[in-house]
Amino acid sequence: MKKENNNNLMEKIVSFAKRKGFVYPSSEIYGGFGSCYDYGPYGVELQNIIKKMWWEYMVQFREDIIGLDSAIFMHPKIWEASGHISGFSDPLTECKNCHTRSRVDHLLEEAGIQADEKMLEEEINDIFTKNIKKLKCPDCGKNNFTEVKKFNLLVKSNLGNFADDWQKEIVYLRGETCQGIYTNYKNVLDSTRSKIPFGIAQIGKVFRNEITARQFIFRTREFEQMEMQYFVKPEEEMQEYEKLKEYRWKFFTEYLSIKEKNLKWKKHDNLVFYAKEAYDIEYNFPFGFKELEGVHARGDYDLTQHSKFSGVNLSYSDPESKKKYMPHIIESSVGIARIMLALMTEAYTEEKLDGGEERIVMKFPAKLAPIKVAVFPLLKNKPELVEKAKEVFDNLKIKFMCEFDDNGNIGKRYRRQDEIGTPFCVTIDFDTLKDNAVTVRDRDTMKQERIKISDLSEKLNKLIYV
Ligand code: GAP
Repeated sequence: MKKENNNNLMEKIVSFAKRKGFVYPSSEIYGGFGSCYDYGPYGVELQNIIKKMWWEYMVQFREDIIGLDSAIFMHPKIWEASGHISGFSDPLTECKNCHTRSRVDHLLEEAGIQADEKMLEEEINDIFTKNIKKLKCPDCGKNNFTEVKKFNLLVKSNLGNFADDWQKEIVYLRGETCQGIYTNYKNVLDSTRSKIPFGIAQIGKVFRNEITARQFIFRTREFEQMEMQYFVKPEEEMQEYEKLKEYRWKFFTEYLSIKEKNLKWKKHDNLVFYAKEAYDIEYNFPFGFKELEGVHARGDYDLTQHSKFSGVNLSYSDPESKKKYMPHIIESSVGIARIMLALMTEAYTEEKLDGGEERIVMKFPAKLAPIKVAVFPLLKNKPELVEKAKEVFDNLKIKFMCEFDDNGNIGKRYRRQDEIGTPFCVTIDFDTLKDNAVTVRDRDTMKQERIKISDLSEKLNKLIYV
């Protein structure tokens, strides 16, 4: 078995993802569209599984967390209050030779120089100037850059504004989902029995005018976030923060079965001014350890700002102590595509089989596999086998995402399913017509077992969700 931790592996995953229907470049027939991707039949299944598991873990298993789905478009003042209009920006430089724009912190990082996007403009400009000789344009390799400029990431739109000069009253596509949580915090309190501490969770699309986006689905301009904001007493913020960190670590290692050796914590050196503490969970992507999820202690900044800008007092009246205070917030925030890329990196395996044949297998844990079971009639041209196989398929598809395949020889059908990570293949053969049993083949061991049709659904359920 071979696993490479380099660019080669990334290239293989990108081409595999397209070839097998996980991820397609957006608008490809028009030459593509910068940093946007579409998710194919297996990609959308995988994303739905990630979302479902996150929702189970963050909402269903927790009596103190409830869900929300707020609009993508919001009152523009929200982005003023949140600080996004003034401060949500990345440091940008342009190559004077080929006009490629690059993120300065990324250029510095590639040259082994410590920097990050949260640094002040002057600070990063200073590091950039001191180290400029060591930097190279990623496209043409030249060393001829413009000065650093901070570039705002909010995406502008004209929703509901029919004037020619709509730029005077811009609305924004949301740059993070959590602002919709803060602005609904009072609605949730008034309409449910929630009491502090409690959390609100949301999954939804986010838009950012990212400067460079070269790492496939790792950094895109349109992506989906899963965020949970937890409202706590000010004096309990840090102890709740530690609990959330632990809970989120377990989500990846226990619930999604990601190997611990491929994950690590990274403390933010440069905190945004209101944050008490911020850590990322990093994953060992083919291009190295990079941010998978952020877990942040945000203090009372968000509700204080929205109280100020909206004129509505968002402080909390504690029903027990009778005290009034502004709740502090801790959050966890992750992009679905980053989890998907981590799971694909984790699963991608090339194997040499006895006899020299090679196979690609996506070794997803069975519960994460886009297709759980594939059903095959041994021969396509035997109606009695096809009919029986259809009957088995119709029965299983109610419980599991299944695929029916009668095309090509059985060996080829196994390979097709191995590539998309289907953990179990069920074959209906001539013996099935006599003994009502089928052959179940395991993706990883390739071992086969006869199972009675009457026991099949229950046995598969146990094997998939153990
Ligand atoms: N509310 C906090 C927040 O949005 P963030 O660090 O900007 O924090 C949180 O983003 C998470 O969203 C990241 O850890 C990452 O998983 C995901 N994310 C951020 N930018 C992304 C992008 N351009 N493409 C894909 N995922 C992204």
